[in-house]
Amino acid sequence: APQAIRRICCVGAGYVGGPTCTVIAQNCPDITVTIVDVNPVRIAAWNSAPDAEGRLSGLPVYEPGLAEIVLACRGKNLFFSTEIDKAIEEADLVFVSVNTPTKKSGVGAGFAADLHYVESSTRRIAAVATSSKIIVEKSTVPCRTAASMRTILESNSRPGVRFDILSNPEFLAEGTAIPDLQSPDRVLIGSLDTNEGREAAARLSAVYEHWVPKHKVYTTGLWSSELSKLAANALLAQRISSVNAMAAICEATGADVDEVAHACGLDGRIGPKFLKASVGFGGSCFQKDILNLVYLSESLSLPQVADYWRQVITMNEWSKSRFAQKVVQTLFNTITMKKVAVLGFAFKKNTGDTRESAAISLCRYFRQENALVTIYDPKVPEAQIWMDLTEPGVVDDSIEVRKQITLAPSAVAACVDAEAIVIATEWDEFKELDWASIYAGMKKPAFLFDGRGIVDAKLLRKIGFKVHSVGKGPEIVDPVWA
Ligand code: UDX
Ligand code: UDX
Ligand code: ADP
Repeated sequence: APQAIRRICCVGAGYVGGPTCTVIAQNCPDITVTIVDVNPVRIAAWNSAPDAEGRLSGLPVYEPGLAEIVLACRGKNLFFSTEIDKAIEEADLVFVSVNTPTKKSGVGAGFAADLHYVESSTRRIAAVATSSKIIVEKSTVPCRTAASMRTILESNSRPGVRFDILSNPEFLAEGTAIPDLQSPDRVLIGSLDTNEGREAAARLSAVYEHWVPKHKVYTTGLWSSELSKLAANALLAQRISSVNAMAAICEATGADVDEVAHACGLDGRIGPKFLKASVGFGGSCFQKDILNLVYLSESLSLPQVADYWRQVITMNEWSKSRFAQKVVQTLFNTITMKKVAVLGFAFKKNTGDTRESAAISLCRYFRQENALVTIYDPKVPEAQIWMDLTEPGVVDDSIEVRKQITLAPSAVAACVDAEAIVIATEWDEFKELDWASIYAGMKKPAFLFDGRGIVDAKLLRKIGFKVHSVGKGPEIVDPVWA
């Protein structure tokens, strides 16, 4: 049997590192897990005390089920700390789980991943380690980053200290992180095809085998593992862009995209998941990873491959603008000074995360058309919405933005006096709203644009709403203005 891992350090206490290592701690009582971060505010939040009801509501990441596990393990075998060097030094295995945003300037700006954080944490590991360790690349990074990490570690390590590098991409989705981690479809571990590489992979596999069946752990070469993460996200995003392209055809022809998607999904080769038409996909991964893939393809002189994947993003951008234009067109070609209620701001339900959220794009379009926008989201903090809709550090537009945007404490409040409602996130609570009283409080005709296909359009039409659902046609029939 491979030598057991006793101490794990996770560098980076974000959306990936936090939940992942919390679940490891829960399932591996024999392993001490320390999650470290350069950001003391974040660590303090992970260490925050329970509220009056005994719940941990102050964690920096909201995931159903996460707080309960943190509460049960924290202080026993799970620790959050800013003492990075100490945690690295003590660990047998270090996860590198830092952020890899898209580069904003320099070579590959707008496409390539900014590997600055990965590199600086790797250098730190090399500088402080006095004993041999397994270093695991957890952040999503372009192919061959593991090789760069290896070079940095080997050229900076102390004599007698050896590092084995593994790639172990995380496939959890936000909002379902805990169930995804508790019963993953697979755990992917990439290693060098050497005795030491395979031994390191077996030691990491043994950590997961505390709760994941062994047959679900798939070991590959380093580069296959790194590329698989980009490939999986690209294939998932491509399904959504494909179904959203079908949605446009449905709207123009009177077909129903849900029926089309269901019919296609019944084919076992296609499968039913990830075929929900929407205003457009968001989240921190899909766009970033596809842009990485595009950049990688171009660097490899494969422009046709780059163009192929770029089209997935182009289609997504078009889906968002097409939906926004639909709103403007339907409201008699102008929304100037009209009140538009945007329900949902997160990029999907059950998360407070707004990265690349379609709602941000929609609000920007509506602002350009001089609308008055009222936003409600059950989980996104107000400060986050302001941050997403202004450009701090670029221009001070916060006064202008606040003239056009207001935030509402509830969905019902957001809709008072509105001319149109736009559903941007599929929160369950939007299905159960008292639509009749919302209708009564709106300007007439009362329009509703369902960007997520979640409301019962027939029922709402009976109340009096004029409803447009993505991928369903014919929509609001208004020959005069069409
Ligand atoms: C296809 C559809 O599968 C079928 O549902 C439809 O009714 C008719 O079109 P067919 O063209 O007979 O059927 O064969 P299929 O098995 O789909 O293969 C089509 C082509 O794709 C073949 O050249 C096959 O070699 C290729 N293929 C298929 C791949 O290159 N890779 C794959 O993973 C699958
Ligand atoms: C994704 C991958 O699913 C996950 O495996 C990877 O580790 C990280 O990236 P995430 O971005 O958290 O996870 O959420 P996901 O559920 O994939 O949704 C992404 C976006 O696609 C959301 O905006 C969602 O609303 C949208 N979506 C998803 C659709 O529009 N239609 C669908 O059928 C599915
Ligand atoms: P992800 O979604 O990939 O988890 P996040 O941005 O949520 O990304 O989290 C990454 C975390 O990594 C941030 O909290 C950031 O402060 C932390 N981080 C970045 N660089 C370092 C570093 N060199 N050492 C420790 N933590 C780091």
